[in-house]
Amino acid sequence: MKNVWVINNSKYGNSEKLSNDIAAGLKDKFNVKVGGIKTINPEEIAGDNPEALIIGGRIIAMNTDRKMTKFVKGLGTYFEEQIPKIATFYTHSASWKERFSKGMKKALEKSTCIGDFCQDILEVTIQGQKGPAAEGQEEKIQNYIKLLLEYLEE
Ligand SMILES: Cc1cc2nc3c(=O)[nH]c(=O)nc-3n(C[C@H](O)[C@H](O)[C@H](O)COP(=O)(O)O)c2cc1C
Repeated sequence: MKNVWVINNSKYGNSEKLSNDIAAGLKDKFNVKVGGIKTINPEEIAGDNPEALIIGGRIIAMNTDRKMTKFVKGLGTYFEEQIPKIATFYTHSASWKERFSKGMKKALEKSTCIGDFCQDILEVTIQGQKGPAAEGQEEKIQNYIKLLLEYLEE
């Protein structure tokens, strides 16, 4: 089975839970690992030659968490070849705006190891800063997992 990594920088656990939900949805078809960027070393990801990297971004001050965008920009140093497929998801508490993902998009453009990236994203509304997820998010999450499976198996 091909390797897939799902990464997050969760503070209150919502992005981490979402990472685990996504991993559970993919695990029959892929060898999936989940990691928080505070503890995983990019070398560990590169060493697995992942087919895909799924990146979770918290929205902080109306943009993607800078710690995550910095991590993404720096990934190129560790990869000799591009990661074939990239997908992104976001957690936020205000109503979703396209511009929240601007920082992530820029980071993906700047990183030298990014292959194709999935145009569809998942954005999950969190109640307040700490969560849990607002009502009605579950269906969106399950639809995204289905879509991800199609994208990864293309
Ligand atoms: C300092 C700070 C600033 C935030 N700014 C925003 C914001 O501008 N827009 C928004 O929708 N959510 C904002 N949030 C809510 C975060 O998106 C939310 O805490 C995060 O997605 C939860 O993810 P986690 O449980 O994985 O840490 C902010 C949270 C914090 C702590």
